Amino acid sequence: MSTQNLIIFDTTMRDGEQSPGASMTKDEKLRIARALERMRVDVIEAGFPASSNGDFEAVRAIANAIKDSTVAGLCRANDKDIQRGIDALTGAKSWRIHTFIATSPLHMEKKLRMSPAEVLEQAKLSVRYARNACPDVEFSPEDGSRSEIDFLCRVIEAVIKEGATTINIPDTVGYAVPQQFGDLIRGLREKIPNSDKAVWSVHCHNDLGMAVANSLAAVMIGGARQIECTVNGLGERAGNTSLEEVVMAVRTRSDYFGLETRLDTTQIVPASRLVSQITGFVVQPNKAVVGANAFAHASGIHQDGVLKARATYEIMTAEDVGWATNKIVLGKLSGRTAFKQRLKEIGIELDNEEAYNKAFQRFKDLADKKTEIFDDDLLALVAQEAGVSSEEHWRLVHMNQASGMGERPHAHVVLAEEGKEMTADAQGDGPVDATFKAIEHLAKSESELLLYSVNAVTQGTESQGEVTVRLAKGGRIVNGVGADTDIVVASAKAYINALNKLASKMERLNPQHQL
Ligand code: KIV
Ligand code: ZN
Repeated sequence: MSTQNLIIFDTTMRDGEQSPGASMTKDEKLRIARALERMRVDVIEAGFPASSNGDFEAVRAIANAIKDSTVAGLCRANDKDIQRGIDALTGAKSWRIHTFIATSPLHMEKKLRMSPAEVLEQAKLSVRYARNACPDVEFSPEDGSRSEIDFLCRVIEAVIKEGATTINIPDTVGYAVPQQFGDLIRGLREKIPNSDKAVWSVHCHNDLGMAVANSLAAVMIGGARQIECTVNGLGERAGNTSLEEVVMAVRTRSDYFGLETRLDTTQIVPASRLVSQITGFVVQPNKAVVGANAFAHASGIHQDGVLKARATYEIMTAEDVGWATNKIVLGKLSGRTAFKQRLKEIGIELDNEEAYNKAFQRFKDLADKKTEIFDDDLLALVAQEAGVSSEEHWRLVHMNQASGMGERPHAHVVLAEEGKEMTADAQGDGPVDATFKAIEHLAKSESELLLYSVNAVTQGTESQGEVTVRLAKGGRIVNGVGADTDIVVASAKAYINALNKLASKMERLNPQHQL
């Protein structure tokens, strides 16, 4: 069987960002883009340039920075949106305009209020406009899996004539089932006379838990050669096709699929960690490939088997997907050069020397408390710097709290607001609650706490706790992260990190919710 190439199109920063609370700043997007480039993802959909100025700037920055992947921008099927996309992407080494319009009866009638003839015309004009500026144009008939096949064929044939180079069929609402979806793609390719002039792609949502299965069926039955997916399966509602699952399925079962990707799979876990830290979406422990337990053999029988021969219970290795990179890297005596070098090796570039100095100071503080520092500790450390301007509005100066069985917890915090120190005390239902109440007493942010989650960064009781706090205020949603060996301190740091993001106005409304 000859092996064919499968194109991996990552939409973590576009469709993934559509998850409530997952909006990312420009700097965060740049960090994710670099991680995806290191993973050798073929196409990175960086955002939706017409949705907001912030997203336009983020797409532009990514287009300028990324050299080894194609950078794509999503545009609705109108000249204005497409021109924004062109403006954001021009100058990239390799770029793609991705334009879409809904083709299902329901979406055309109720959402677009357009007739099928108008939709067909709009699709043609948009692809023509995009092709005049860019040789690489992708067209998606939104809600494709619920569209009428004859109409879909007419639209797709027409846009290929206009020069669309990739045709992407979305299962927008996660309605498809594998055999049927595979048959749909095959049927379209057979019926449309010029179908061989484009690469066929699929884009699945996971509402019924079948996004990966549907994508792989489209590949095997339908002949699709591009899969759109997101790291950790991040995305609207139940998420999108998970990148790591698709890539490792194709690689592990190459005997069956006869396909290969160009990805460096050892970068999967680092990218998963980064996306989780930036968005605050914790990966479930039993998640395939990137979950903390994905390679943990707990039962005696399994452990015995794996010790005798790994293949008894392991179909892929933890090293294959990058778990092994999380080794002990630094300790108390490590210097600034070693610290900076290791950050570089795991793909972290900070903006300036001041940021390195601050991160190094945090590292030294951590090394005083924890003998072994892992890559994940470093990621947690710099995550706290990201997304906040160098002038922090709020700074945690000191805190302590008291709690015990049968006692009402009490917290005392000292914060500095733009350098001016102030103190507050509060009681709460637990030490974290008391601490947040004391901070809020000073900050008076009146924000709503949407999420509080605690995660152990590494294994063992000396692990740092990494806390994510999601706050909402006036339509803006921000994620704060904080890490410390003391989880109440980590919680305070995360809360203050989120307050600083609210104060710095760097975080945006999720751009795609503004449309
Ligand atoms: O789910 C969807 O239909 C999309 C398209 C814009 C590709 O995200
Ligand atoms: Zn989608």
